Amino acid sequence: MASTRSFSVRSATAGDSAAITELKEAGFGFRFGGDEKEFQGKVFPVERALVAVDDGRVVGHTVDLTMTVTVPGERAVRACGVAGVAVAPTHRRRGILRELYRAQHERTEAQGLPLTIFTASEATIYGRFGYEVTVVDTSVSIDTRRVEFRSTTPDPGGVTLETLSDAAPRIREIYQRWQLVTPAAQERPEAKWDMFFADIERHRQGTTSLFVLLHADGYALYRRSSREGRGVASVWEFRAVTSDAHAALWRVLLGLDLVDVVEAPMVEDDPLPYMLTDPRAVQLTNRGDALWARIMDIPAALTARTYRADLDTVIAVHDPFRDAGGTFALRIRDGIADCEPTTREPALACDINVLGGIYFGGLRANTFAAANRLRVDDPAVLPAFDYAFTADRSPELGWFF
Ligand SMILES: CC(C)(COP(=O)(O)OP(=O)(O)OC[C@H]1O[C@@H](n2cnc3c(N)ncnc32)[C@H](O)[C@@H]1OP(=O)(O)O)[C@@H](O)C(=O)NCCC(=O)NCCS
Repeated sequence: MASTRSFSVRSATAGDSAAITELKEAGFGFRFGGDEKEFQGKVFPVERALVAVDDGRVVGHTVDLTMTVTVPGERAVRACGVAGVAVAPTHRRRGILRELYRAQHERTEAQGLPLTIFTASEATIYGRFGYEVTVVDTSVSIDTRRVEFRSTTPDPGGVTLETLSDAAPRIREIYQRWQLVTPAAQERPEAKWDMFFADIERHRQGTTSLFVLLHADGYALYRRSSREGRGVASVWEFRAVTSDAHAALWRVLLGLDLVDVVEAPMVEDDPLPYMLTDPRAVQLTNRGDALWARIMDIPAALTARTYRADLDTVIAVHDPFRDAGGTFALRIRDGIADCEPTTREPALACDINVLGGIYFGGLRANTFAAANRLRVDDPAVLPAFDYAFTADRSPELGWFF
């Protein structure tokens, strides 16, 4: 309620940095390590932050960075990436987050960015602001004793063990090739690469620093540890641009000596289980959300990506938080869309969240329809819409923020 508000929201300045750090540490429940301090403010500069201030104290924070992200069709789109959202434990549930997001959206609008993206600490917070899960996060655990590759699985070789610093230029080059073909993957900014190669202590959590397996078209970075007497290799980042690189790297990872378990993030349609004689060796251990998205400008976002099939439809989009919805005609020819406001009767209707959910082509329109969140009067409309939006390749988060 505006009348009882005691806080105000403003752009941050360098003088707010210490208070912002304390707020984020209190909010997320960890301390930044000494080796991490130099990266603070470089990836997400304080000049891009918004703070809520009460009686001269910083009690709320968000920061954004314009990210270049791949959308279906291997196209690059500039999106607003939001990070470091925290409100002081003394000021929670007074509408500070809501006000910060309202201000954040105004900024994003002023920049003309069609999309806002972030990773979320909890899945119950952001739906009310028009956001939806758009990249699912899945992890597996592989019992190496059960691993036997099928005779049909390629064995291309070509993997070398490298140090992180020696491999750095090749890792960057491979990541870039992978990012350009992977929906939802972001370019990694310079400051983030510096932090990545610094392999900070907080990311290790009782495991080793990074080991590097390198192939001409892929890499696997992993850490080692011992848990209840079992050797564990935890994959930190796996990027393969070709199926040969994928097979070659997995053959080395699953053959590591003194390793009983390999843990790894893995998209749901990764072929690895079907390259093994026992697909149950690969057990799903976690299914969560990696990336959330919100469409800021419906025509700009929908025309920025490509589609699998022609389509002529009208969709009504409800956007209560920004009051920026409406009814839009979507016409797709040869993968390219036109999208403009229309007075025609809609064939489909949904909240803005659903468009963000299906935008990168991983989550399906069919799924949201089954959840009664995408409404169609004529069920015949749905299959074509669903097919057109689905991407050829699973979206993946490039780097966590
Ligand atoms: C999450 C956090 C930022 C919320 O800030 P806040 O100022 O208390 O939020 P607001 O008072 O503006 O709440 C806005 C709405 O979100 C809801 N909400 C806020 N936090 C929520 C949570 N953790 N779970 C579910 N709903 C939440 C509020 O109930 C309110 O709902 P309504 O207005 O629709 O009825 C704050 O609790 C925090 O700093 N948490 C720890 C760090 C964190 O998780 N940050 C988010 C990183 S993605």
